[in-house]
Amino acid sequence: MVCLGNICRSPMAHGVLQSEIDKRKLNWEVDSAGTSAFHRGDAPDRRAIETAMIHSIDISDQRSRLLVSQDLKEYDVIVTMDTNNYNNTLKMAENADEKSKVKLLLNYSHPGENRAVPDPYYSGGFDYVYALIQEAVVAMVDSLTKDKE
Ligand code: 4NP
Repeated sequence: MVCLGNICRSPMAHGVLQSEIDKRKLNWEVDSAGTSAFHRGDAPDRRAIETAMIHSIDISDQRSRLLVSQDLKEYDVIVTMDTNNYNNTLKMAENADEKSKVKLLLNYSHPGENRAVPDPYYSGGFDYVYALIQEAVVAMVDSLTKDKE
C-alpha cells in the first residue's frame, strides 16, 4: 500500500487489508510505504489512528518508510492511492513484470475510472477517505482471491 507520506492513506489501507487477511485466513503479507521520506520513522497521523480505531483496527504500531525498488521485486501487487504515487512508483519499475504489479486502489472498486483516494493530510475528511479505502480493499481481496480459485 503506497501513498505520499505513509502516515495517512496507506497506513489505513494497510490496516484494513491486514484485517481482511485475518478474517479470511489468507497467507498474505502486507506492508505500506511512501513515495516521499517526509515522515520517515513517524507513527501514522493521529487522525488516521483514530479513524481506524473507530473500526477496531489498530494502526498505531506502523512506522513510515520510503518505498524502495526491492518492494517491486518482493511484493506481487503494489497498490497506490493516487496518480502521483502511481506514476512515481511506476518510474521505479525495472521491467514489464514489475510495471504490471503497480495498481491504483480505487480501480478495484471503480474499475477503469482511475479515481484517486484524496489526500486528507491538509484537507481532512478522514471518515470519507477510510470508507473509500475500505470499499476498495474488500473489492481487491475479492478479486485477487477469485483469480486464485
Ligand atoms: P499521506 O498524506 O500521503 O496519505 O500519508 C500525506 C502526509 C504528509 C504529507 C502529505 C501527504 N506531507 O506533505 O507532509
